[in-house]
Amino acid sequence: MSQTPENKKGQVETTGHVWDGDLREYNNPLPRWWLWAFYGTIVFAVVYWILYPAWPYAGTFTKGIETVSFTVQDKDGKTSTVTEHWNSRALFNKDMESSPSALAQKEWLAKVKDMSFAQIAANPDTLNFATSMGHALFGDHCAACHGTGGQGVLSVNPDGSYPNLTDNNWIHGDSYEKIVSDITNGIHGNMPAFGALFKGEKLNDLAQYVLSLSHQEGVNEEAANRGKASFATCAGCHGANGQGNQMIGAPNLTDKVWDFVDVPGAKTIDEKVKLVEGVIDHGLQHQMPKFGDRLSPEQIRLLAVYVRQLGGS
Ligand code: HEC
Ligand code: HEC
Repeated sequence: MSQTPENKKGQVETTGHVWDGDLREYNNPLPRWWLWAFYGTIVFAVVYWILYPAWPYAGTFTKGIETVSFTVQDKDGKTSTVTEHWNSRALFNKDMESSPSALAQKEWLAKVKDMSFAQIAANPDTLNFATSMGHALFGDHCAACHGTGGQGVLSVNPDGSYPNLTDNNWIHGDSYEKIVSDITNGIHGNMPAFGALFKGEKLNDLAQYVLSLSHQEGVNEEAANRGKASFATCAGCHGANGQGNQMIGAPNLTDKVWDFVDVPGAKTIDEKVKLVEGVIDHGLQHQMPKFGDRLSPEQIRLLAVYVRQLGGS
């Protein structure tokens, strides 16, 4: 009741409109603090437009006069300073060189740079750093093919298989130097097709012999014995006893570890024989890209430490 226009007559103006005979509307001035805050936002917006990217025009946008500087390192390790108009990517780069965690990482990188692999592995702190950096790099660059944990893929179609890096079974060898060169230069695994040489029963006999090397259950011993002679064709690469050759990346055929052919996944001996026959018939081709142009030598060294310990080496 105390808020009727009559009570406040003379203190607050009304707009002059009258509804229903006696309904009037106050014309309260906006509170001063509110007005100043409002003007403040306008000034803020104008300053913002001048400093930062703001208005779209003609297919681009106003870039603002604020800049961000950060240092970049080229492949030879030379550093230079880059200055760009303010953008969040440049800001991220700047953060990466000055944030406490980035500085800590730099310090560790410098520490392991001149250490040998044996020294890195012998010290729990540097080993820890190498494996955690290696793990992150692996997720970014290798997991798409080798799986997040490096467990690989053994596909019914051997072309879709990627080697398991978590077993201690190496196609190409487990020395740090070899792993570094494999990652740097990539790998081209190639077994020629022998379909022209082995057909029908001869092909079956050879496949049975290959399976007998790893003592697969249900192998037809007679057929395997007949196939043994044909293995001479394979021995040049896989070794006289099928033990493999890491120099040329020919897998060991005597262990139960299969890198490309999904023998463990096949239920019956007939299916296993079919798979091995397929490889003899068509050969195998696998390509791992080279990372020497994408990753720094330091990153590759850390990856090698990480990958090698995955297999328990
Ligand atoms: C010129 C060398 C060469 C010869 C000869 C050769 N292989 Fe291979 N073999 C390879 C290579 C290299 C691989 C791995 C292929 C890859 O990386 O894609 C392989 C892979 C295989 C695999 C798959 C092993 C796995 O773990 O999945 C089988 C099985 C196999 N060879 C059997 C044979 C048989 C049987 C013969 C004889 C007819 C033969 N190879 C002759 C080089 C050879
Ligand atoms: C495009 C798929 C692909 C990517 C990405 C890839 N690899 Fe490979 N990798 C392969 C294939 C295929 C082979 C098997 C090559 C062969 O012997 O035929 C292989 C083999 C390897 C081997 C040898 C394994 C052994 O038993 O000797 C290592 C080590 C390896 N990769 C590490 C890496 C690392 C580390 C990365 C990331 C920097 C990586 N790979 C990324 C496909 C890939």
